[in-house]
Amino acid sequence: MNTPAPSFAAGLEGVIACATRLSDVDGTNGKLTFAGYNAVDLAEKKTIEEVWFLLHYNRLPTDAELDAFKAKVEKLGRPNAQEIRIMKGLRAGEPLSAFRSILSAIASQRGYKPWLNRDVAEVEEELLALSALAPAIVEVIHTGKAPLKKRNNLGYAERYLWGILGHKPKKEARQAVETYLILTMDHGLNASTFAGRVCASTGADVGAAITAAIGTLSGPLHGGAPGPVLDMLDSIGSVDKAKDWVKDQLTAKRRIMGFGHRVYRTDDPRALTLKRVAEKQKGPRIELARAVEHEVLSALDAHQKAKAAAGTPVRALRVNVEFWTAVALEHAGIPRELYSSTFCTSRIIGWSEHIREQLKDNKLFRPLSHYSGEPAQPLV
Ligand SMILES: CC(C)(COP(=O)(O)OP(=O)(O)OC[C@H]1O[C@@H](n2cnc3c(N)ncnc32)[C@H](O)[C@@H]1OP(=O)(O)O)[C@@H](O)C(=O)NCCC(=O)NCCS
Repeated sequence: MNTPAPSFAAGLEGVIACATRLSDVDGTNGKLTFAGYNAVDLAEKKTIEEVWFLLHYNRLPTDAELDAFKAKVEKLGRPNAQEIRIMKGLRAGEPLSAFRSILSAIASQRGYKPWLNRDVAEVEEELLALSALAPAIVEVIHTGKAPLKKRNNLGYAERYLWGILGHKPKKEARQAVETYLILTMDHGLNASTFAGRVCASTGADVGAAITAAIGTLSGPLHGGAPGPVLDMLDSIGSVDKAKDWVKDQLTAKRRIMGFGHRVYRTDDPRALTLKRVAEKQKGPRIELARAVEHEVLSALDAHQKAKAAAGTPVRALRVNVEFWTAVALEHAGIPRELYSSTFCTSRIIGWSEHIREQLKDNKLFRPLSHYSGEPAQPLV
């Protein structure tokens, strides 16, 4: 007879596993804070480099500091000839897998070593360098060519979009991508950040820790939903078909991509902001996306009410950041197969800052498990 399972938190739901000064996700009130500032305000008024500086130094930069920081990350973001060869050699296949393999190979080729017992400042530079390199990696994966030579003083978002589109992006597209990249830079102890911190907690090299974090994004439950959201909009096709489509999905007990969240019990502030961005873009998908959002929300609401009436505990299911991300990024001209890699270029900044926190106050992650197997028996 197995012993009864002690209570444990499946999926570590509700468990606080570390302290961070980087971001606070208030799921009850729908508020997201980055290092003491409302993330939506930052996304609407600041640049990526300013918010990156804030997460890195815990304060906003002066003009001179910002210029120096921009110049530094721009320089760190230029791969050398050997790294471009690595990128070209490993770019085949699904872009996120290629991104993971390229980043891992470059960290290895650069000789990044386990961080334990090393100079912390040196390890922090390695983290900054990997984050800065992300746009070039996505560009080479997409084009198969060396990154375009762009003006030195371009911002991170403009450089990123330019590399993908192959031409100077329009201001509105650049702003949409900048808002998205800022809003998704950090988000508490989500699955990828946790994976990165767990890996770093062993003293592993930072290339391994970032690679572990990227691995989690290959699943659509975290970070991988925007591409499937567009597939869903494609298969619905027109506003009049939205209602029946949603009903069929729920009857078949399928998950609807871009809805639900582990932490938010009310509107996700990032989704609301990106919806405003998408509405401002006035792209061809907006009417269909609005109709689908409306139908899914009312169907999920009815579904949850029916479950509650039958005595099952339920939670509110709302639209999440990935639904409106899909629409905003599509209107900005980013192909859907690059959405997860685009997410990487923003969240790698959050991962790196979390890993810095981990290595400054490290405790190996080592939870326990309840044994539910057979009792020990003599080996015959
Ligand atoms: C994000 C997500 C994994 C969070 O899940 P969670 O808080 O751990 O909740 P669970 O997976 O335990 O689901 C709880 C219930 O809500 C339902 N549910 C949650 N999200 C749903 C969705 N998008 N569509 C339909 N039902 C959903 C589940 O089916 C489950 O119902 P059940 O108890 O009858 O089985 C989940 O909402 C999801 O799968 N969403 C779709 C993928 C997505 O958009 N991912 C991006 C997240 S930013």
